[in-house]
Amino acid sequence: MRITRSVQRLEAYTPGEQPKAKCVVKLNTNENPYPPSPKCAAALNGFDLDRLRRYPDPVFAALRARLAKIWRTSPERIFIGNGSDEVLSLAARAFVEDDEAIGSLDPSYSLYKTLAAIRDVRFIPTPLDGDFTWNGRIVARSGGTAVSMFLLTNPNAPTGVLSDPATVAAAAQRFKGVMLVDEAYADFSRTNCVPLATAADNRNVIVMRTLSKSFSLAGLRLGYCIGPEDLIAALYKVKDSYNVDALAQSVALAALNDMKWMRANVAKVRRTRARVAKELAKRGWDVLPSESNFLFARPAHRPASWLFAALRERNIFVRYFKGPRTGDRLRITVGTDSEMAALLAALAELDRR
Ligand SMILES: Cc1ncc(COP(=O)(O)O)c(C=O)c1O
Repeated sequence: MRITRSVQRLEAYTPGEQPKAKCVVKLNTNENPYPPSPKCAAALNGFDLDRLRRYPDPVFAALRARLAKIWRTSPERIFIGNGSDEVLSLAARAFVEDDEAIGSLDPSYSLYKTLAAIRDVRFIPTPLDGDFTWNGRIVARSGGTAVSMFLLTNPNAPTGVLSDPATVAAAAQRFKGVMLVDEAYADFSRTNCVPLATAADNRNVIVMRTLSKSFSLAGLRLGYCIGPEDLIAALYKVKDSYNVDALAQSVALAALNDMKWMRANVAKVRRTRARVAKELAKRGWDVLPSESNFLFARPAHRPASWLFAALRERNIFVRYFKGPRTGDRLRITVGTDSEMAALLAALAELDRR
């Protein structure tokens, strides 16, 4: 039995904790606090069991047709994955040679670095400015290695900060490789980069979305991306034959047929986000302007790591990322109003101690 050197060296990605206790306030993995559309329940209840006897549609025709309609583009420009994490790993397979690198903002979604390690290629970060904004420049090469795929989370995670589409477009124009814009949180944002992906003259921009956040379907595992036909065709070449199961395709289609439901939940999350951001700022916290379903904030009186542990003891789970850029802040998913009330009460109590 032999495990490759790169896998032996690999530092695996650490997902947010999934607490065992039932009665917890879970604000640590950016899930949606509201349920998915009732149309998803109807799709599940009405699902013909005989469809499980057969393999699912390997090219997701119905889902792609629906997405093409939503985004006013052609189905040939759409690829679907088992969660957007799968799209990312397929992109790393399709768009990066062994002697090339994957790049991303720093800080950003920590999976990207792991992805480069799994693929056994270099990871080259582009540091954000002091205020966590991005000036549009990419570190496209280092020590003779070129970045062939740049993963741009927009709005960024864990910061929530949005880069405007004009900055992204200009950067993509200058960049020689594939620019994959990870829009996991874009439904919570005031703008997005899909028009860059659907533009007729687009040669290198892929925009990726997930149903895990705004559609409340993290447990379903469905993500997709939109891009130029040749890049999309490459993803189809490297995927597993049946990467998205029949149930997921059916429930996702139901969710996409109820955009009103998704938009209503997003509106609630945005209202709560604004209210909690204001309250934390009033208490002296430094809260970054968020266009996502989470806040990235520096506590006023206590170290972030201490607060993280103290909240956890009270069964309130938020996310803490140690490190020079992130270690003085907490990432707090926007939950329901009552969950946020519990958080704010616990924080007030901890401040008094
Ligand atoms: C920036 C970003 N991209 C992608 C994902 C993964 O989403 P999915 O559930 O579609 O795999 C996440 C999940 O937290 C994320 O934060």
